[in-house]
Amino acid sequence: MNKMSNSISNGHGGRIFLIGFMGSGKSYWGRKWAAEYYYDFYDLDEVIESEQQQTIANLFEQKGEDWFRKTESEALRKFAEKDNCIIACGGGTACFNANIDWMNAQGKTVYLMADPQYIFDRVMDEQEKRPLIKNLNPAELLFFIEQKLKERESFYKKACVVLPVEELSESATPDFIINTE
Ligand code: S3P
Repeated sequence: MNKMSNSISNGHGGRIFLIGFMGSGKSYWGRKWAAEYYYDFYDLDEVIESEQQQTIANLFEQKGEDWFRKTESEALRKFAEKDNCIIACGGGTACFNANIDWMNAQGKTVYLMADPQYIFDRVMDEQEKRPLIKNLNPAELLFFIEQKLKERESFYKKACVVLPVEELSESATPDFIINTE
């Protein structure tokens, strides 16, 4: 199979936006599925870091969250020009500036749904690079995840496809890649 024969025919240029909480595996699965199906892969945080020549942690610290959300939304909108690609969004991307509606109009959105404990286990060793959780102790971290997830779920659930992460497997690529309508 090659990129052309597998291009998505949903009228949205074959753009797939992976959304969901930090630690839900957006970058991991996105990179893997893109490689399997010859799509281009982009990690929105990495796009911002490379444009700004700064880490996300530093950008948050120096310019603040409002600046970051504006910059993130601008970086996201540039994907209107790209075809046949998987974009791993940041954990908050879907929840600001009507980004979820924009993504739903521009491509296929896929929510990687994970529960708080799953997320906790995956982010606890990587807190340093994630400004929102950087200074939290384990109890605070779990509480933060539970609260934020509740707050964000209504945005995430606007996705076209909801994939529980516990059901993902290394050997089977989900239907939304193959069956593109
Ligand atoms: C954020 C998640 C991060 C990054 C930034 C803010 C969030 O992305 O965009 O730290 O608001 O949840 P990951 O989900 O890739 O960690």
